[in-house]
Formats: sequence, structure tokens, C-alpha cells
Amino acid sequence: MDLFTKLRPEKQSIREGVTLLTSFADTDILLAEIPVLLGASPLRRMLTPGGRQMQVAMSNCGPLGWVSEPTGYRYTAYDPLSGNPWPDIPLSFRTLAREAAEQAGFSGFEPDACLINEYTPGIRLSPHIDQDEADRNWPIVSVSIGIPAVFQLYGLTRGGRAENIPLYDGDVIVFGGPARLIYHGVKKVERARDARIGEKRINLTFRRAH
Ligand code: SIN
Ligand code: FE2
Repeated sequence: MDLFTKLRPEKQSIREGVTLLTSFADTDILLAEIPVLLGASPLRRMLTPGGRQMQVAMSNCGPLGWVSEPTGYRYTAYDPLSGNPWPDIPLSFRTLAREAAEQAGFSGFEPDACLINEYTPGIRLSPHIDQDEADRNWPIVSVSIGIPAVFQLYGLTRGGRAENIPLYDGDVIVFGGPARLIYHGVKKVERARDARIGEKRINLTFRRAH
């Protein structure tokens, strides 16, 4: 390896349909929007269909928001906490999502849903597929902000060994096409501190739900 070979190239193909864009997002710009969004629709720990409380605290912005309830998962136009529409997706968020999708080979991505996930150290997200979206031709665009985490990539069926992908502030992972319905999760987050938001990781996932 010579001096100019990057340890983490800007654009990495992890496998067919999965692209990692390192340090792609300007997270200062994204973080500037977060207080307003969460002021309108606060983070909350939703109940799973099994009746348990999720570890990850969540909220949404956009015409549609993903919710988990004892009756199942769905997209709603209204925040069940307030009865109001979810806040709009800020222009900077939409632009980032479109540009990341474009880089990964999905041109013209216009998300109608953005799930906001908040992790603190010790929290994990167990393996699952994102399959509540009617239109699966569009990818999922997932943006990491704050302290690092390890994204775990499995296959199209449950179980097996995870491929571990460390994600840092500003990294964006795009999965779509043949990888749209892959199992994925997040390993227990290690203790770390971000100068702006403290011991937290915020993840934005952009989807085309309808
Ligand atoms: C998700 O699968 O919805 C979140 C992934 C992440 O936090 O990186
Ligand atoms: Fe997911």
C-alpha cells in the first residue's frame, strides 16, 4: 500500500446492491435540523408487535413515518403521539439522500419517509428486513451521525454469520436492488463521545414507502 492508498475509500461496494459512502454527509448541517424535527415529533421507544419496548428511540420526518405498535408495523401520515403530520423532510436531508442514492446507482430517489433512530451505548438493533415499503424498487439510504457503530449485514434469509461494517459519522450506506431485502442490524454500540451530541448515535434512514 502506498501513501496515497486510502484505508477507507470514499465509495466501496460491499456486495452487489450494497454501497458504502464514507464521510459522505456533512453532519453539522444535518444536526442543525434535528432539534426542530424532534421538537415537533419527539423520540420515543415504540412497542413491538410482541409487546416489548424497543431499545432504539425513534421518530420520523416526511409525508410518511414508520411506526411499530403491538398490532404490527406500518407507515402513517400522522404522528400517533401528537396526532399531527410528521415534520417535513428538510431540503438538506432530501438532497443528501438523492445524491447518495445517485452515487450508488439509483438515480432520481425522492424519499417519502425518513426514520430517525437514536442509539446510546449498550443499545443494539436486532437483525431485520425493511419490508414495510410498498415500492421496493428504491433503495434504503442510511446515514450515520455521532458516535460509531458496527452495521451487521446478513443474507436474504434469517441467520448466518454477519459481515461487520464499522460506520462513522458522515458515512452513508445504500442498499437496494438484489440487496433490498437483506437482513441487517446494529451491534451493541460501544461507549464513545461525540463533541456535538455526546454519547449518542443518530441514524437517518430514507425510504420510498408508497
Ligand atoms: C435500521 O436498520 O433501520 C437502522 C440501521 C442503522 O442504525 O444503521
Ligand atoms: Fe432497517
